[in-house]
Amino acid sequence: MREIRAAVIERAGMPVSIETLSLADPGPGEVLVRMTSAGVCHSDLHVRDGHWVRPGPIVMGHEGAGVIEAVGPGLDPSVVGRPAALSWYAPCLRCRECQRGRQWLCSGSPSLRHAQADGTTRLARPDGSPVLAYLSIGTMASAQVVPATAVVPMPDGVPPEVAALIGCCVSTGVGAVVKTADVPAGSTVAVLGLGGVGLSCVMGAVLAGAARIIAVDVSRTKIDLAGGLGATHWVQADPSNPAATVEGIRNAAGPGGPDFVFEAIGLPATISQAIASLPPGGTAVLVGLTRFGQDATFEAFPFVDGGRRILGSNYGSAVAAIDFPRYAEAYLAGRLPIDRLIDRRLPLDDLEDAFDRLRSGHAARQMVMFQG
Ligand SMILES: NC(=O)c1ccc[n+]([C@@H]2O[C@H](COP(=O)([O-])OP(=O)(O)OC[C@H]3O[C@@H](n4cnc5c(N)ncnc54)[C@H](O)[C@@H]3O)[C@@H](O)[C@H]2O)c1
Ligand SMILES: [Zn+2]
Ligand SMILES: [Zn+2]
Repeated sequence: MREIRAAVIERAGMPVSIETLSLADPGPGEVLVRMTSAGVCHSDLHVRDGHWVRPGPIVMGHEGAGVIEAVGPGLDPSVVGRPAALSWYAPCLRCRECQRGRQWLCSGSPSLRHAQADGTTRLARPDGSPVLAYLSIGTMASAQVVPATAVVPMPDGVPPEVAALIGCCVSTGVGAVVKTADVPAGSTVAVLGLGGVGLSCVMGAVLAGAARIIAVDVSRTKIDLAGGLGATHWVQADPSNPAATVEGIRNAAGPGGPDFVFEAIGLPATISQAIASLPPGGTAVLVGLTRFGQDATFEAFPFVDGGRRILGSNYGSAVAAIDFPRYAEAYLAGRLPIDRLIDRRLPLDDLEDAFDRLRSGHAARQMVMFQG
């Protein structure tokens, strides 16, 4: 048992409070991690702003990295002291989808219940009442007990912030390109929305050898960031004129149109723009997550007549134990400049301010840093 500091929300839609909680020792199949860094992802903001129903009270955060401090009974203790990235979807390794190698579709993940595999939590308030951990890892905390299948040791030399980003936006965005869509070299790719996820789509497109990469955002700063990562063309979106964005993407793509359009915002309007930008045979890859209950529309006849496709991409089709170390190696080799996504480092106490900045659209990736 130990005391930790953590960012808690009472329920979805309520502000964060920084609290001292007790953290019990890891049980069988569980690992104690001292957190080093946690990224502020728009999915946390969806919960903070009440767009998604979630149980509470719950420790926020699902993009994080730390150092393995202890393992529960039955686990290999040789990993103690190793830095690790955390996966926000701990696979059960037993269900049909896990056995098919599609862990991102696991139906038995404890992450679905924001608890450990036995359905209980290791976190409690001073009065003894239980507190959940978002997606079982609740990374906005100085330490956490997490399912062992969520813990992926990192190679030497990977900075904590880079490991944290591999845990969500990098795997989501790069994986959407290289795994879900399997973009062939020489393709023309457009990316709508240039936050941590969309910028990772841009990095994925570079890694895949895309010939033309069109970066689309309302923010000129984000467009410049994408240019530094390898985007070749850009469109500055005006939300009041969606047709102009579609036309801008088509013009930038040239006569063949974009082979792939990645939507990394999560708004019905931009999902419709992504689909409307497609030439015959083109593919829209939906990565952004909307509020619960929202529909997006597209004109059906030309979609079918033109043999277009829509793919949903969850977690970039990540198999964390395999893909996280690969992305880390690509970073170390200079082929995935993950550190360039970071535009702010902050203490846990400033999390509400970080949410304000993310909500305004001005933030790239903001990183909560924990003291050693
Ligand atoms: N599919 C998955 O597994 C998965 C995983 C992680 C995050 N997500 C989702 O991905 C989305 C993006 O996450 P993020 O953390 O990168 O968000 P973010 O807020 O950092 O980035 C969103 C970007 O979209 C831009 N934008 C907003 N409205 C726009 C418009 N009308 N036209 C053009 N650009 C616009 C903003 O300026 C911003 O740069 C969120 O919906 C998040 O929940 C999905
Ligand atoms: Zn995320
Ligand atoms: Zn499973």
